[in-house]
Amino acid sequence: MTTHNLIDFDADTKSFHLHNANISYIFSIDEHGVIGHDYYGRRLNQYHGQLRNPQRDRGFSGNFPGTTDRTYSLDFFLQEYGSNGNGDYRNVASVIRQADGSRAANFVYQDYEIVAGKPGLEGLPAAYVENENEAETLQVHLVDRVSQLTLTLNYTIYRDFDIIARSVVLTNASQKTVNIEKLASMQLDLPAQGGKQVLSFPGGHVNERNLQRENIGHGTKVFESRRGTTSHQMNNFIVIVDQQTTEFSGEAIGVSLVYSGSHKEEVSKDQFGSYRILSGINDDQFDWQLDPKEHFQTPEVLLTYSANGLNEMSDHLNGLLRTRVARGQFRDEVRPIVINNWEATFWNFDEAKLTPIIDEAKALGIEMFVLDDGWFGHRDSDNSSLGDWNIYEEKFPNGFQHFTDYVHNQGMQFGMWFEPEMISIDSDLYRAHPEYMLKVPNRQPSPSRDQFVLDVGRQEVRDNVYEQMAKILDGGKVDYVKWDMNRNLTDIYAVDLPAERQGEVMHRYVLGLYALLEKLTTNYPDVLWEGCSGGGGRIDTGFLYYMPQSWISDNTDAVDRMRIQYNSSMAYPVSSMTSHVSVSPNQQTGRMTPMETRGAVAMSGVLGYELDLTELTESEKLVVKEQVNKYKEVRELIQFGHFVRLINPEMGLGNRYAWMFVDDTADEALVFSFKILSDAQPEFSTLKLAGLDTNKTYQNIETKAEYGGDELMRAGLYEMFEQADFTTNVYHFKAL
Ligand code: GLA
Repeated sequence: MTTHNLIDFDADTKSFHLHNANISYIFSIDEHGVIGHDYYGRRLNQYHGQLRNPQRDRGFSGNFPGTTDRTYSLDFFLQEYGSNGNGDYRNVASVIRQADGSRAANFVYQDYEIVAGKPGLEGLPAAYVENENEAETLQVHLVDRVSQLTLTLNYTIYRDFDIIARSVVLTNASQKTVNIEKLASMQLDLPAQGGKQVLSFPGGHVNERNLQRENIGHGTKVFESRRGTTSHQMNNFIVIVDQQTTEFSGEAIGVSLVYSGSHKEEVSKDQFGSYRILSGINDDQFDWQLDPKEHFQTPEVLLTYSANGLNEMSDHLNGLLRTRVARGQFRDEVRPIVINNWEATFWNFDEAKLTPIIDEAKALGIEMFVLDDGWFGHRDSDNSSLGDWNIYEEKFPNGFQHFTDYVHNQGMQFGMWFEPEMISIDSDLYRAHPEYMLKVPNRQPSPSRDQFVLDVGRQEVRDNVYEQMAKILDGGKVDYVKWDMNRNLTDIYAVDLPAERQGEVMHRYVLGLYALLEKLTTNYPDVLWEGCSGGGGRIDTGFLYYMPQSWISDNTDAVDRMRIQYNSSMAYPVSSMTSHVSVSPNQQTGRMTPMETRGAVAMSGVLGYELDLTELTESEKLVVKEQVNKYKEVRELIQFGHFVRLINPEMGLGNRYAWMFVDDTADEALVFSFKILSDAQPEFSTLKLAGLDTNKTYQNIETKAEYGGDELMRAGLYEMFEQADFTTNVYHFKAL
């Protein structure tokens, strides 16, 4: 037995055991060199390698190539990484078109290495370590002996996070070119067992991340984006749960793809009841030519296991995302409260119109002014100027420096909006470089919001964008950038690639984008970068590596936001989600909600305001001032504490949401509870808290009432809501 701290290899049973205090992940090499999956779940202390793939002669399940054992079939074995063309008829992780045109490959075990820490992924975002003792990485090398292709399966297990990171590298050690038609980042096979379910997060623009919970029946469920980005329509995060799993109990396996392009998650149940989960780059429009000596690195998948429900799963995952995926100086710094002018003015602004908003923001204690879309080219609507990142001088008659100085002289920080991946036909950039845009020769490209996509897969296009942005960032003392992307990819064709490489364009786009983000975020480390894609169209763990926060939806309606933020918290840390108070009636839904409720929802993320502050009434200004002061007092707890989801409408309490924040030592807790529609005869329901210390006494700092930790968690609180729609209760407890 070779024993490392976190990974063991038992030479007798030929099994690998990855473990930390809470979890075990086990797989083994069988007599044919196939890597069989054995176990993923709670930590096993006494593992003797007994659990192996059972064998049986099953009709119509063919046998291992070149052998006669009728009881051995890849058609039903649980495997770590399945390939096409060797008798496994299920969805497989890899499909490779060999030089002879066949699609057969049979990857078998060659050797392994265990390294301390976690190596980075070439050109791709990934979870990292701060020192080598935090994690260990196992690299298992497989070979297809006929084609001389090798596969490396990478597994990292963290000591203090219940996370396993997986990715794959395919290397062409042959003399011939092959094509990758599909290369998933990971495959997870699970034995038949009860009725498993899958949670996915579908939606649309201004309607992101609904929660869909479905039984996994026979056949395949596909959760995917073919849009070239993560998409509003389907996030690249899924959860596998048991029927009984709740927020507080039961098994949950989270699968998060660290990638910002087209993705595909496949969840299936085979003829014998076993499950297979695949996640990776979408194979739609994907065909990657791999020449001799080249290799291909897949994005990474982060697997999270919890035996204690969805809240614990999210807490483990989000702990890692916040501290070992997000990077840069703002990772651990509390984020400023912003005023953004978008919903206040849209494109219709100039310096004279903005300065009163800035004055008001300062008076209310707001810390940063963000200048949104419309400051560049001659942009007065969405049909021009993308690609021309120079100041629209008529809007800043005293010069742009005068304006940014004005903001800074108020003691506020200054932020700006960019949409760097885009081009308008009406732009100097298009007039000079029409060939920079994604477009299929001899076809009319598809507009979306009147704009087109720059091919940032190409170096000269990236260089142009970089230089234009650098000029603005160098000139104006810019403290923050909002990086937007307001359409999806179409017209998939790159003018610099030959016909046989056009299947690489979508992924090359993402790699190019990452290269550009890496360069900008490295060279401008003092800028707080915020991601955005029409709100939540590119919320993913890949983007989080470059930008510690994102605008998660263009829907600022407080009631819709309850759902969007609740569901997004399954997969993303609160510190990564910005949320703004906007005007009532809301511009997306027309709903009227009280300022208190709008504030409570926005305070449950990274708080900001996005409305014309000069139009607030005096009493509204008082409420805003209180919110801003309160947020400054509690934002460390909110942004960096543990988030616990307590109630959502699907739990049978139709009309309610509640969640709370608790710090590491369970000394402080902040609870937000919302009632959506009013009842004439409200029921007397209790709200039970979580994550507190049963031995501590807590005081409600407003009412001074005292409670035991167990009392708050087990007996709970009776809640009274105001007789009105969209009301909120906030409770702030401190341990005595
Ligand atoms: C997108 C963003 C908005 C705003 C507009 C500007 O929709 O999500 O917040 O920046 O673009 O055009």
